[in-house]
Amino acid sequence: MLFPVRRPRRLRIDSRLRNMVKEFTVEPRQLIYPLFVSESIKKPDEIKSMPGQMHWPVSQIDKPVKDAMKKGVTAFLLFGIPSKKDPHGDSGCGENSVVCKAIKQIKKKCPEAYIITDVCLCEYTSHGHCGFIDKNGNVENDVSCAQLAKMALSHVKAGADMVAPSDMMDGRISAIREILDDNGFENIPIMSYSVKYASSFYGPFREAADSAPGKGDRKGYQMDFCNSRDAMIELESDFEEGADILMVKPGLPYLDILKTASENYPCPIATYHVSGEYSMIKAAAQKGWIDEKKIVLESLIAMRRAGADLIITYFAPQAAEWLKEAL
Ligand code: PBG
Repeated sequence: MLFPVRRPRRLRIDSRLRNMVKEFTVEPRQLIYPLFVSESIKKPDEIKSMPGQMHWPVSQIDKPVKDAMKKGVTAFLLFGIPSKKDPHGDSGCGENSVVCKAIKQIKKKCPEAYIITDVCLCEYTSHGHCGFIDKNGNVENDVSCAQLAKMALSHVKAGADMVAPSDMMDGRISAIREILDDNGFENIPIMSYSVKYASSFYGPFREAADSAPGKGDRKGYQMDFCNSRDAMIELESDFEEGADILMVKPGLPYLDILKTASENYPCPIATYHVSGEYSMIKAAAQKGWIDEKKIVLESLIAMRRAGADLIITYFAPQAAEWLKEAL
C-alpha cells in the first residue's frame, strides 16, 4: 500500500497565519542612531564614504535627533571630531569637549532624547590609537583607562544618559564604574563594546571620525577574527566589571558571536551594524543591484534572531520609517 505524500507544514500556513506566528520583529525603539558631531564646521557636511550620513556642527546636532525622534527612534550614540588633537586625547576629556557641548545642545532642544556617548581616545589622539602610546609604539593600558574614565565622567556631567566605551583597554569598565560611582552617578549605565573585532568593516567610519591610526593597526587591543572562543573572555570580564549592556561588533558577519553572547549573559545584548556594512548596502543600492529596504530589514531581523536586543545602525531613522508598514 502506498502512503499518501504529505505536503510540508509550511504549505498549510497561509499569509494570515504566517503573520500570526512570526517569531521575530524589529521595532524603532530597539534602534540606536550614531551621529558625528564636529567642532570645526558651521554647516552639515556629508560624509563621502557614508552616503546620507553627515558631520553635524554642534549648533545643529539637535536637528537629526528631532527628525529621528519623530520617526520613533529614541536613542543616539555620539561621536566627536575635535578641532585639535594631541598624544593623550585631552581635547576629548574636559567639560568643553565637542561631545559635552553636543550633549548640552541636544538636552536643551530635545530633553527626552536618550543620549549615549562613545568613549574612546582615537578621535582625539594625534596618532589615532585608542589609548596612550609609549615610545616603542605600544599601547599603555592603565594610564589610558584613567583618561577614558575621565572622559566618561565629563560626558555624564554634561548630561549623557549612558556611556559606551569602545577602546578595548583591559579594566576600563571597572575604571569607569568606579569614577561614576565616586561622583554620585551610580545610576548611569555602561554599554560595553565587549567583543570588538579588529575589522576592516570599520573603514568608512575611520574616514568619518578621522580616526585611522597613523602607524600600525588595532590588532593589539581588538580581537582577531580568526577566533571565537576569545569572545567569552571579553564578555565575562566586562560583565564581571559591571557592564550593564554587552555589545558585539561588527553585526552581520559576527552573528555566531552575538548568539553566544545572548545565550550566556543575562543582560541586554547590543550589536553594531557598522559603517562598512552600511556603505556596502548603500553602494549596491545606488547601482540598482539590490533592494535597499528589503536588505536592511532582513539584516536587522537577522541580528534580532541571533539575540540582539538593541541594534546600533546608521539606517535607524530610515528603517523606523520603513517599519511603519508590516514586514
Ligand atoms: C572607536 C570606534 C570605532 C567604531 C566605533 N567606535 C572604530 C575603530 O575601532 O576603529 C567603528 C564604527 C563603525 O565602523 O561604524 N574606537
